[in-house]
Parts: sequence; structure tokens; C-alpha cells
Amino acid sequence: MAYQPNDYYAKKAKEENFAARSVYKLQEIDEKYSIFKGAKQVIDLGASPGSWSQYVSKKLGNQAKIFSIDLNPLTQSIPNVTFVIADIMKVDFIELVKNHGFDNLFEVVISDMAPKTTGIRVTDQARSYELCLMALEVAKKVLKPKGNFVCKMFDSDEFQNFKNELQKNFKKVNVLRPKSTRKESKEIFFIAQEFFYS
Ligand SMILES: C[S@@+](CC[C@H](N)C(=O)[O-])C[C@H]1O[C@@H](n2cnc3c(N)ncnc32)[C@H](O)[C@@H]1O
Repeated sequence: MAYQPNDYYAKKAKEENFAARSVYKLQEIDEKYSIFKGAKQVIDLGASPGSWSQYVSKKLGNQAKIFSIDLNPLTQSIPNVTFVIADIMKVDFIELVKNHGFDNLFEVVISDMAPKTTGIRVTDQARSYELCLMALEVAKKVLKPKGNFVCKMFDSDEFQNFKNELQKNFKKVNVLRPKSTRKESKEIFFIAQEFFYS
């Protein structure tokens, strides 16, 4: 189905000055699971055009620093956000955050990363899963105990495998398909809370 820039959430995002309608997915997740409570350092993976970083910046204000990364630029600079253009598959992430003045202990990692879709379902699902595994690897390296991780995945046969992986390091794992997700989309979000070292 073609992109519909004038749908309800796209219009709302424009009116509220958010870079993308995806912000309402994060908002719903946050309202349901309170993922940012007391966070001082947050990582946003796949941040472009920038609505999730905008949400976190607004929500936490000067109490927090946000480190955001994407292959593509943000549409605007966002207060308290350090943004780097890079391919997460190719960087030493810990080095990168340290080089930008962050210590490597974060309270929250969010990933809305998605591959450029090919239209071939299994290929797109496999690429999405690879990005999820990479996001989880980052989360395990940088999260503080009791930290939270949100990750988008194109639903596939790997659903249960990924859930099992998350359960090895998080006390609570929930799955949500936000109301603002387009009908034709196969995306789902894992909300993994209370990180522990295994
Ligand atoms: C749905 S968009 C994110 C929207 C964003 N959360 C927002 O609210 O504006 C998915 C993003 O994942 C990024 N992405 C995909 N593969 C990536 C990779 N290997 N490294 C970094 N970013 C990647 C894409 O460039 C794209 O901008």
C-alpha cells in the first residue's frame, strides 16, 4: 500500500512539530510501560528523521543526554541529543559513545531501526531480525542493571527466538502493536524491562 502522508497520525505529527508519525508508537509504549523513569542517558538506534529523539528530549529535558544514530540525518537539531551518522553494523558502538562524551551505562535503549524494504517478505524479515540482534547486542553492552530496551521487529518466524533471547537478560518482556501502526504493516515492538546480567 502506498504511503499516506495525510493520515490522522501524520497530520497530528505535523501539527505538533514532530519529524514523523512514529512518535505516537513510542508515546503509547511509554504511557503503558513508563520506560524512561529517572533516565539520564538514552540511546536511540535508527533515529532519523528524529521523532523518537524529539519525544525523549521533550520528556526528559535537561535531566538526560540522548545518543542517537542513523544512516540518514535528522531533519533538525534536537536539544540534549548527540547525533551521529553511521551504520550500526559497521561501528564499534562503545568506542563511538565514549568518543562523544558518554559513559557506557545507559538506562534506556530504543530501536526503531528498519531495513530498506525490498518487497521480498523473507528478505525484509531477515534484515529486520539482524538489526534486532544488533540492537540487543548494543543494549546488553550499555544498559545499567534494571535498564529498559524497546525494539521494533518485522514479525516473522524469529519472533519466539528473539523473545527467548530477551528473556535471558530482562525480567519482563512484553510485545505491543501500537494503535498508530499502519494496518498493512507487520511491525511489532518488544518492550524488555529490568535488565540483568546473565
Ligand atoms: C522507521 S525509521 C526510524 C524513525 C525514527 N524512530 C523517528 O521517529 O523518526 C528506521 C530507521 O532505521 C535506520 N537504519 C536502518 N538500518 C540501519 C543501520 N544499519 N544503522 C543505522 N540506522 C539504520 C534507517 O536509516 C531509518 O532511518
